[in-house]
Amino acid sequence: MGWRCVGLVLDLALKGRMFPGRVGAERSQSAGCSPWAGVPVINVGSGRRSRMNDPIPDVLAPAKLGPVTLRNRIVKAATYEGLSKKSLVTDELIEFHVRHAAGGVGMTTVAYCAVAPDGRTHRKQLLWTDEALPGMRELTDAVHAEGAAVAAQIGHARPVANPKGNGAPALAPGRRFHATSMSFTKAATRADLERVVQGHARAGRMAIEAGFDAVEIHLGHNYLASAFLSPKLNHRKDEYGGPLANRAWLSRDIARAVRDAVGDRIAITAKLNMDDGVPGGFWLDEAVQVARWLEADGSLDALELTAGSSLVNPMYLFKGDAPIHEFAAVMPQPIRLGVKLVGRRFLREYPYEDLYLLKDARQIHAAVTMPLILLGYVDGYGFLYFGGRSGDWIRVDSENISALLTQNVVRRHPKVVDAVAFGVPDPRSGDQVMAAIEIPEGVEFEDLGLPAFLAVEDDLGTKGAPRFVRVSHALPATGSGKLRKKEMQLEGWRTGDPVYRWAGRGAPEYALMTGAEKAALRAEFAAAGRQRFLP
Ligand SMILES: Cc1cc2nc3c(=O)[nH]c(=O)nc-3n(C[C@H](O)[C@H](O)[C@H](O)COP(=O)(O)O)c2cc1C
Repeated sequence: MGWRCVGLVLDLALKGRMFPGRVGAERSQSAGCSPWAGVPVINVGSGRRSRMNDPIPDVLAPAKLGPVTLRNRIVKAATYEGLSKKSLVTDELIEFHVRHAAGGVGMTTVAYCAVAPDGRTHRKQLLWTDEALPGMRELTDAVHAEGAAVAAQIGHARPVANPKGNGAPALAPGRRFHATSMSFTKAATRADLERVVQGHARAGRMAIEAGFDAVEIHLGHNYLASAFLSPKLNHRKDEYGGPLANRAWLSRDIARAVRDAVGDRIAITAKLNMDDGVPGGFWLDEAVQVARWLEADGSLDALELTAGSSLVNPMYLFKGDAPIHEFAAVMPQPIRLGVKLVGRRFLREYPYEDLYLLKDARQIHAAVTMPLILLGYVDGYGFLYFGGRSGDWIRVDSENISALLTQNVVRRHPKVVDAVAFGVPDPRSGDQVMAAIEIPEGVEFEDLGLPAFLAVEDDLGTKGAPRFVRVSHALPATGSGKLRKKEMQLEGWRTGDPVYRWAGRGAPEYALMTGAEKAALRAEFAAAGRQRFLP
């Protein structure tokens, strides 16, 4: 029973990369009935004290985060999208966050706003400058207009920073060679560290001016503060190195400086590594202690938990397949070639499983009382669904349908060269299943006899049969031949390729969609007030 509620036993919110629109789409189904009623509270760890009697929060009910009231407990995690330009907000970045806000999140997080020019991992990244403020204000206003709150993630990348793009050496606890930037880092002086601390405080003040509801301090992924926490990266002999208490000073100083700067005007959270995923690095036992110190300092309203090292072991952060070719594609030569040749050693793979951070999070949960923000996957009794990797599950008529299953079934067809399946929005509520299939030149869709083929595939069920089938002799693919699923999902049935549709009644029977039918479907979205689902 436990797995369905574990994410909710822990405190404040669930975060994750979400399919925009998901929350709004599902909300109506849980209205008036808490899906968590009667769900057993499980024992959540063996730490200092048990929180097993804590009430289970209703994820969709309003919640307090420090001085801010969120309309629900769902927080869109920071995912640097590369949408800022010249360190300024763009319309695309605003649109990205507005889509999540319109989808119903309680709060969206603007990824990585660097506190100093040399703290950027890419020179396009947002910076706290007077010039950036109007764009930030436009972004926060637009998100607020959709009813959501908005946080800015603030931090200093330092060892992960891009020395070439920033025109400054990447500073770190000590001097060290980094293959990703092909350069040495420079050991930070005390004056450098003071500048970094004050940079965070200034960012906090500017965040208030820009209309943000919260700032999230980046203490993870071996960015600067996290690199200081790591015994593997921090070999300093001064008061910032050695025992954990010393290695934690920078993180604590930053959080205290932000609290001093903003008081209770906005919420302050921090994203803390539970472990770096690197032998000899920062590990859970130390993270538990750092979480306790941060709580005792009173500088945070909530702690967000994460893991991994952008510097040394990036896939530990995300889990799943390593995107070697995509990663190589954005690198300059000769690094690109190096990534292709030995990338798999650097991008070690870890199997993805839902709630993969939960086991460690329980240890932190048992050690502190402050609210935690957890990576979420929640599947509640068929009432509610907003977890897992976006696109892997599709919500059809109140049921969760596996995109992977549909995809595998369609791929079994002997004439199908390749296929992907994903959810596309339904004009009234939830999603519909869509498949994109590639067939050889000279073969027509009608030759496949798809309805008869699907009818005998017992494991599929009627809801798993695709409502829409995009047909092509060459589906969009990456250089390495991987189908561009996300792109096809966004296009949906509005692609230039032929799309066959099954009306959804009786056994599957497909007819080619005409322009007039597409226009009529569009009108259905408009009539239901769901036009925003058609980008
Ligand atoms: C493309 C991408 C960009 C990310 N950028 C950031 C970032 O700027 N700051 C950050 O703290 N985490 C970043 N993350 C990590 C996510 O916030 C999140 O912690 C991680 O992806 C785990 O969630 P998932 O299992 O849903 O991927 C990024 C993740 C992805 C996939």
